[in-house]
Amino acid sequence: MWAKQLLSCFVLAVLPSNTLACLQSSQHRVTVRDIQSQKYVRRTPPVSAKTAIQNVRVFDGQTFTNPRSVVFTNGHITTCTKDIETVIDGTGQFLIPGLIDAHVHLPDITGLASITSYGVTTVLNMACHDYAACAALRNHNQMDLASFLSAGIAAVGNSSGNGALQPPPDQLVYPDTDLSQLVAWAFGNGSDYYKIVAKPSSLTQVQQDHIVSAAHNANQQTMTHASDLASFKQAVASRSDGIQHIVDDGLLSISTISAIKKNKQFVTPTMSIFKYGYSHPEVLAFLGRTNSTNSTYAHVEENVRRLHKAGVPILAGTDAVGPIAPGIDLPFGITLHEELQLLNGVGLTPLEALRASTIESARWHRLFDRGEIKAGKRADLVLLNSNPLLNISNTRDIARVWVGGVEAQDIAKLS
Ligand SMILES: *[C@@H]1O[C@H](CO)[C@@H](O)[C@H](O)[C@H]1NC(C)=O
Ligand SMILES: *[C@@H]1O[C@H](CO)[C@@H](O)[C@H](O)[C@H]1NC(C)=O
Ligand SMILES: *[C@@H]1O[C@H](CO)[C@@H](O)[C@H](O)[C@H]1NC(C)=O
Ligand SMILES: *[C@@H]1O[C@H](CO)[C@@H](O)[C@H](O)[C@H]1NC(C)=O
Ligand SMILES: *[C@@H]1O[C@H](CO)[C@@H](O)[C@H](O)[C@H]1NC(C)=O
Repeated sequence: MWAKQLLSCFVLAVLPSNTLACLQSSQHRVTVRDIQSQKYVRRTPPVSAKTAIQNVRVFDGQTFTNPRSVVFTNGHITTCTKDIETVIDGTGQFLIPGLIDAHVHLPDITGLASITSYGVTTVLNMACHDYAACAALRNHNQMDLASFLSAGIAAVGNSSGNGALQPPPDQLVYPDTDLSQLVAWAFGNGSDYYKIVAKPSSLTQVQQDHIVSAAHNANQQTMTHASDLASFKQAVASRSDGIQHIVDDGLLSISTISAIKKNKQFVTPTMSIFKYGYSHPEVLAFLGRTNSTNSTYAHVEENVRRLHKAGVPILAGTDAVGPIAPGIDLPFGITLHEELQLLNGVGLTPLEALRASTIESARWHRLFDRGEIKAGKRADLVLLNSNPLLNISNTRDIARVWVGGVEAQDIAKLS
């Protein structure tokens, strides 16, 4: 037993935090950080002792294993089973990695707390016009709040308009704007990736290509908003890493789809916002969608179906914005579960949908520290009462959630 434990600690020698955890006493206590933020009062977070979830079936990226233990400490999963302080019985339950919503517009701590309660442990915010406000949402390690990653000020052409997400006038892209400098500023201000808005009469192809090259030269990724045929083709041609949204005004051609594959791009179709928009036309108008008589939700579905059939990586994101105007509310959290069902409805199997919100999303966004239940990865975990591979809507059947090893205090009861 002793030898076995030593071995497992030794095997992890390449993972310093785990090794350290085994060598030191694991008397690790959370300190409450005083978050000065909007209306949100923290309760005392739970103690982050070395924890074992026992006898639980674990999602290994393909299937659920036979019942086993998952141990975590100091925010990360470990194979070192020495000095376990807290034991949780997972009999009959299913452990999946924390979910990733790869497209949100999340403005405050309240939104972050809300989305965490739905098992979403990482959010990718897709524009930030106030770098200080976004910085305040980052890095709440040792708190039960999802990790917040964000784009900075988005590149939007001066003639296009972008509805509620319009940057201030002095931050628009004019024909003579120094695009390399814009990209450098975004990353200088802590952006995790660069957001480009492709729409009719926004940026030219040359401008988009320039921005993508500048970001790639800095070893960074770009995400391009594109929801009409012409803009989508521009986004593909620019080789932007992640194409955000999907086309609703026509069908993607075979050549466009082949180009996406050849360029190794991924698509985050955000079916949720289209579903919501097509049920509430005032929402489409509010979000500054272009008006086209040819636009239908059927195009949304068929395009995602075609991309998936062709083997284009499809990732789960919602475009959730929360309540941003009277009568306009695409809520955080629940929408990610809805997105998985929408993706399932256009041909992704429950396994593919689950991967689209965990391991695939992590890999394509270069978040190599998460998305899998494996030694050394972040202890972002969701314990479910039922098997999501039998029915993807079972991701709603949440028992408990941990984010960076800290158990979430509030769990949304959805089933
Ligand atoms: C965008 O900028 C160009 C160059 O400054 C200008 O000619 C054009 O009128 C602007 N468009 C709008 C809608 O302001
Ligand atoms: C942050 O962005 C602003 C413009 O939005 C820019 O003036 C400033 O230089 C940037 N900071 C860094 C460190 O790049
Ligand atoms: C409208 O959509 C159909 C596919 O349903 C497509 O064949 C046609 O080219 C589109 N028209 C325009 C103007 O985009
Ligand atoms: C959008 O198009 C429809 C016709 O398809 C039209 O009735 C409506 O007025 C248009 N809305 C805007 C904001 O242009
Ligand atoms: C999945 O579960 C939902 C909710 O219980 C149900 O409506 C749906 O029919 C189920 N789907 C399948 C494929 O069993």
